[in-house]
Amino acid sequence: MIVTDKNHFAGFSPASARNREPISQALMTLLRGNETVLEVGSGTGQHAVYFTEQWPGLQWQPSDIAQQLPLLQANLDTHERHNIDQARLLNLQHAHWADSVMPVDLIYTANTLHIIAWSEVVSLFSQLEKVLRPQGRVIVYGPFRYAQEFTSTSNAEFDAWLKVRNPLSGLRDFEAVNALALAAGLSLLHDIAMPANNQLLVWQKI
Ligand SMILES: C[S@@+](CC[C@H](N)C(=O)[O-])C[C@H]1O[C@@H](n2cnc3c(N)ncnc32)[C@H](O)[C@@H]1O
Repeated sequence: MIVTDKNHFAGFSPASARNREPISQALMTLLRGNETVLEVGSGTGQHAVYFTEQWPGLQWQPSDIAQQLPLLQANLDTHERHNIDQARLLNLQHAHWADSVMPVDLIYTANTLHIIAWSEVVSLFSQLEKVLRPQGRVIVYGPFRYAQEFTSTSNAEFDAWLKVRNPLSGLRDFEAVNALALAAGLSLLHDIAMPANNQLLVWQKI
């Protein structure tokens, strides 16, 4: 049985609750408000629920790997929104994950690139050609390294902690991720410094 806590989210993520507001502030300058959005690695669905409330004109497609889907869908059912689709299976380990996905205006993913393996980061960017509409954008939130340096001691400690948990996890080099984006035909529009040494990276399909 999936149990909802006092925040009305099963598996409630305090980090997701903390960063939704600064992300929302940044999105105000970035969104038209009527985009179709594919979220990769939706987790508990907290961002999907919050942002679709802020922007009722968005149409949001949440997704995650199979083991996360029951909890994600249970949370979406609790927080029924007219502009959130049923959660769908999207596992970046599947090389052709985009084959069954309708093209969207925006791909959004938060707190994922340092969790998934580098091969999955490559997989994410490799399919953008198919899944992003012309002028479509990719928005990624999370911590990154720059010039192979951590931007804070806490990020270095976080990276070490992640690698103990899973040697394939770890903070990504901004330059390496940006190179994947450029190779996918995108250009970097914004690199916004966010609270707690995170970044909001925005690319657009040229
Ligand atoms: C730290 S959570 C972030 C969840 C949510 N985006 C947030 O900000 O709270 C990382 C998410 O990545 C998902 N994930 C892990 N491996 C994945 C894969 N191969 N393909 C897609 N998502 C994956 C996890 O299931 C999880 O929901």
